[in-house]
Amino acid sequence: MTQGASIPGPRGNVLLMPTRNIRKKTHEYLSQLEKKYGDISKIKFGPFTVIYIANPDYIEYVLLNRDAYIKIQEGGMLRILLGNGLLTSEGEFWLKQRRLIQPVFHKQRLERFVQKISESTDDMLSVWETKQGETTDIYNEMNRLTLDIVGKTLFSTNVKSEFDKVNTALTKIMTAIRNRSRFMRFPLWVPLPSHLRIEHNRKLLNETIGDIINQRRNEIGKFDDLLTMLMEVEDADTRERMTDKQLRDEVLTIFIAGHETTANAMAFTLYLLAKNPEAKARLQKELTEVLGNGELSFEKLQKLEYTTMVIKESMRLYPPAWMIPREAAKDDIIGGYQIKKGDKVLASPYAMQRSPRYWKNPEEFIPERFTTENMKDMPRYAYFPFGGGQRLCVGNNFAMMEMQIILAKICAQFDFTLAENFEMELTPLITLRPKEGVPLRLIKR
Ligand code: HEM
Repeated sequence: MTQGASIPGPRGNVLLMPTRNIRKKTHEYLSQLEKKYGDISKIKFGPFTVIYIANPDYIEYVLLNRDAYIKIQEGGMLRILLGNGLLTSEGEFWLKQRRLIQPVFHKQRLERFVQKISESTDDMLSVWETKQGETTDIYNEMNRLTLDIVGKTLFSTNVKSEFDKVNTALTKIMTAIRNRSRFMRFPLWVPLPSHLRIEHNRKLLNETIGDIINQRRNEIGKFDDLLTMLMEVEDADTRERMTDKQLRDEVLTIFIAGHETTANAMAFTLYLLAKNPEAKARLQKELTEVLGNGELSFEKLQKLEYTTMVIKESMRLYPPAWMIPREAAKDDIIGGYQIKKGDKVLASPYAMQRSPRYWKNPEEFIPERFTTENMKDMPRYAYFPFGGGQRLCVGNNFAMMEMQIILAKICAQFDFTLAENFEMELTPLITLRPKEGVPLRLIKR
């Protein structure tokens, strides 16, 4: 077999480097690697060898080659959180589940969700009317809203009262998982405090999902939604239904993958608009022109061009899924460089979408980058907030439509400014989050 070149990179283990706390700033560290080593670099991160790829062609190669570059197996962060659902499963099993779930999210079928998304947003805005002039943490508001939307649209269930429980459990698990990735990795069954915390909070999430499923068992036939479909579908060969555990993992996956990412993207978008009043004014002008005083509809959403550009530019600067990791299933060569079976291969929307090699003034918020004309020059896979290849986000069209509706409704009815002296800091957990939320002062228009 031909041998590839060895990959350049810093010496030693990055977690031992004394000057920086890399775990808390990994998203920035990746840009430094690209600056120093270019398209590809290798680091020792705790017990792992991580290959960081910063070239659109390499990223495309890895994302499109799903048999050779698989999801992280043992001990992967997402697997601990979500079990074996659509986001983490592999091979034939994944393909079967993907084929089952994907049709729910087809573009042509999204129209039926417009009304429910609008109603949930209206409910939130009517509470905001009572908060006039107050400073409100928009990050929290967005999480509450998007959880409500996923619950109502896909599972015909009201999870509003469960919000605090779900949100706290999720944050605790993500933080415990991140803090776990040091040198000595004990299996999860070893009763360390962090492991017990993960176990306890995972149990809370399972209980919430279990309650939703049990309630549906008493109401079967009443709803035509994703939950009914998952509960009733039979394997074409064995005629068996999903096991309780599988069902729970799939439902939890959609709940978690389907709300937190969208909430983060919305919070970052509102933050950017508050910092860029001209863009906000232009967006509001478009809303007046397209919506007038009338109700929002699926047809009108297609006309919200600038609003869509704002969302895309926001996800360029702050992609909620800031890193996309894979594991090499076999020895391979990328761009002439040697990859070994078991290596972790990492692509990062955050670092690539801010790379000065592919973007002019990368740190600036410029929605006009996303006009149809300008997008023609954009290299594929220098922008990939929803991933790519067969494992592309199954909810990407749903998310885009949801964000258009939420943003249009908020900006049509409210003006907002950032709390004085607020400087945003980022926390790169499994998703990219604003560390201290996003405090906005709300003013009714
Ligand atoms: C702004 C919002 C969102 C962002 C940025 C986002 C991002 C992503 C990314 C980058 C992936 C690929 C991960 C990888 O390749 O390892 C992914 C996968 C996935 N997303 Fe999303 N997502 C969003 C919204 C949603 C929504 C609304 C849902 C469902 C309601 C959803 C469900 C999923 C699922 C189930 C997968 C796994 C797909 C598979 O592997 O077959 N996401 N998402």
